[in-house]
Amino acid sequence: MCGVVGYTGKRQAVDWLLDGLQTLEYRGYDSAGVQVVSPSGNLHGVKCAGRVAILRERAHTANLHGTCGIGHTRWATHGTPTDRNAHPHLDCTGRIAIVHNGIIENYQQLKRELMADGHEFRSDTDSEVVAHLVEEAWAGPARGDLAAAVRNACDRLEGSWALAVACADVPGELVVTRLGSPLVVASTDDGAYVASDVMPLSSVTSRVFQLDDRDIATLHADGSIDIVDRDGRLVSNPVAMEIDWDASAARLGGYSDFMAKEISEQPEAIERLLAGRLGKHGIELDELKLGKEELAALRHVVIIACGTSYHAGLTAKVAIERWAKIPVSVEYASEFIYDDDYLVPDHTLCVVITQSGETADTLAAARRMRGMGCDVFAITNVLGSTAAREADGTLYVQAGPEVAVASTKAYTAQMVASFLLALRLGFANGRLTRDEVEKHLHDLEQIPDLMREVLSRRWQDKQAARRFRHKGSSLFLGRNVSSATAFEGALKLKEISYLHAEAYPAGEMKHGPIALLEPGFPVVAVVPAGHVHDKTMSNIQECLARGASVIAVATDGDERVAKLCQEVLGVPNCPDDIIVPAVSVLHLQMLARYVARDRGYDVDKPRNLAKSVTVE
Ligand code: M6R
Repeated sequence: MCGVVGYTGKRQAVDWLLDGLQTLEYRGYDSAGVQVVSPSGNLHGVKCAGRVAILRERAHTANLHGTCGIGHTRWATHGTPTDRNAHPHLDCTGRIAIVHNGIIENYQQLKRELMADGHEFRSDTDSEVVAHLVEEAWAGPARGDLAAAVRNACDRLEGSWALAVACADVPGELVVTRLGSPLVVASTDDGAYVASDVMPLSSVTSRVFQLDDRDIATLHADGSIDIVDRDGRLVSNPVAMEIDWDASAARLGGYSDFMAKEISEQPEAIERLLAGRLGKHGIELDELKLGKEELAALRHVVIIACGTSYHAGLTAKVAIERWAKIPVSVEYASEFIYDDDYLVPDHTLCVVITQSGETADTLAAARRMRGMGCDVFAITNVLGSTAAREADGTLYVQAGPEVAVASTKAYTAQMVASFLLALRLGFANGRLTRDEVEKHLHDLEQIPDLMREVLSRRWQDKQAARRFRHKGSSLFLGRNVSSATAFEGALKLKEISYLHAEAYPAGEMKHGPIALLEPGFPVVAVVPAGHVHDKTMSNIQECLARGASVIAVATDGDERVAKLCQEVLGVPNCPDDIIVPAVSVLHLQMLARYVARDRGYDVDKPRNLAKSVTVE
């Protein structure tokens, strides 16, 4: 979703602001803007609907000079994606500029009051009220103290925000603050930086500081940063975070797009996650922060997630129920938060799965579970994310930066992380012996090579992608653990190719979706070897009988599938059916990518989507 950047120091601000915004493109956005304080002490900037590349051209033409400035990529919530609604927003005097991530929930009330006091609004956004509130405070009680003016403004806000504020009257100073939306700052010899995540900062430093809710930070041109907490106390030791990946990890490095790069990085991501896990507790999972007795006492697990992470949760359920024999419910976070009748049994562990760690629905659901007395365990990819900070324990999946909006490597890493959790729970409650844990871990260790084998067969996906040409819809089917793979395959296809894809447990097809079938209709059937193979084959026959083109994801050597289906996406034999989803889904990721490219779409930045969905 929206991205914030800011800089004050020795260099020309606009260069880094634009580069920073480009790095934040992966979050998803529809307009962008920058504003700098000119050497003559005025604010000047440009903003526009569309890509950062357009903004860059406009900034070049406008010849923006100045060593202090702020920038923003906007994902529209209040007001259409137009030039006038793009950030930064200015106050009435044109001397205060703000950028904002989040939602100001009481903006209508504030806007009415501000307009009654004579303020003129130039946009339809909720964010613009902040510029006028800072203006009021600056003109009144906080004159000469930008940090005080920003605090004063925030005291009147309800909702969530990450804010950066520049004021032409204090050139060289930026004030930033947050509530519920992430914000990180960095101090360097060149100057001080702020951004909504670490990505833009990785090119200038490996050490960043996280702000806590309602902290107010003042960034100075000499690179120093003063942070004051919600009670007005100086924060002398802010939480530092080392960026432990090379900035090059977030660059294309020879790939044509990030999605291709991230798909191909999956084997190494799983190797990192599994390294050194065997120990005296069966599986070493110190991240869980629960003792053996608490683990052994668990009677129920609730998994909460959205989108792709929810699909990882569906596979996690199978693993935990099979290995730890603990009943698991998997809930959509957005539904769970408003389910007032939800019953949580005693001794329930809540597991939140979130790649970004910033999904608003997931965070709200986790807070609700904590409020109900549950321990919350987060499985996330982003170091220091809000989910990680608020959870009782966090397992980082270590997939490295995922830039493409469509999640791929984080998804398979989430699944494998949940397998580790299942083994840990099973060993703690005595359902698994140490030998069994070792055996399962050994099976998991086969995943990277199995993935490499699937990656080497990408030509099959490229070939199968042709079956989607000139089609308006498709159906994805799978049974049991493979139904999660079907759901994920359909979501990937929808996200990046804008082709309708319906996913169903294969046995449910006859209860409705079968009506969609007609000659040439593409059906993707996930039908690996296993106890439901034959039942799924019957469903494939039903599709073929109606003339559908069946693209089957099947185990090598499956002669029946090879004979009947139009395309086969082959999966090598896996030692345990539970790990098949982590291997077979790579075909569906590549298939979706080829279909999208065939249609001429940008696979990394699909329309309307955001990488971190920070609004409910
Ligand atoms: O960051 P999260 O894992 O919490 O995000 C949840 C969903 O928004 C996310 O998985 C979304 O479905 C992706 N675009 C999937 O590719």
